[in-house]
Amino acid sequence: MNRAAMYAGTFDPITLGHLDLIQRAAVIFPRLILAVARRPPKITLFTPEERAAIAAEAVQNLRNIEVELFDGLLVEFARRCGVHVLVRGLRAFSDFEIEFQMALTNRKLAPDIETIFLMPSEDYSYVSSSTVRQIAELGGDVQRFVPPCAWAALQQRLCRLQGKGKSQGDH
Ligand code: COA
Repeated sequence: MNRAAMYAGTFDPITLGHLDLIQRAAVIFPRLILAVARRPPKITLFTPEERAAIAAEAVQNLRNIEVELFDGLLVEFARRCGVHVLVRGLRAFSDFEIEFQMALTNRKLAPDIETIFLMPSEDYSYVSSSTVRQIAELGGDVQRFVPPCAWAALQQRLCRLQGKGKSQGDH
C-alpha cells in the first residue's frame, strides 16, 4: 500500500499552524508531499519559487517531507505523484464549508483520491497567512506565528516593498 499523502496550499508564507499540521501528518504517513500552488486564486506576496523555498527551509529538519510546486488540478498532480490521500486542516467551524466543498469536488474529479482532515493545535486555530502578512505589513511582530525563515523573508520583502513605496504585489 502506498502510504504517501499530499498537503497542498498557497503557503504565502508557511506558518507555524501549517507546520503543526505537517508534523501531525508526518506521524501518520511515511511520505508527505507539500504541494505549493503555483497559481492560487489569490494575490501573493511571494513568488511560487520563494513560497516553495521558504516552506522547504521550514521543513528541512523533518523527515520524509518533499516540497513540490504544482500547476493545474491538485488531484491530477496527486495522481502523477502516485498519491491517493490529500491532507487538509480544519482550524475552526468556519473552515468546514469550503473544505467540504473542496473535498467533495475533488472526490467527483478523482474518486480514487481520499481527503482526510486533521486539526492543528488550538494555539494556531486563528493563524492564517493573510493575517500574518497584514500584521507584518503594519509593523507588528509575527515571530510567534511563523518559522524563522518565513519571518526573515517577510522582513526582507517588506523592507524592499516599502523602499519602493508599494505595500503588496503579485509576482
Ligand atoms: N494553520 C494556519 N493557517 C492555515 C492552516 C493551518 N493549519 N490551514 C490553512 N491555513 C490558512 C492559510 O494560511 C490560508 O490563509 P490565507 O488565505 O489567509 O492566506 C487559508 O487558511 C487557506 O489556505 P489553504 O487551506 O492552504 O488553502 P489555499 O487557499 O492556500 O490553497 C489549494 C488551496 C491550493 C489547495 C486549492 O486552491 C487547490 O487545490 N488548487 C488547485 C486547483 C484545483 O485543483 N482546484 C479544485 C479544488 S476543488
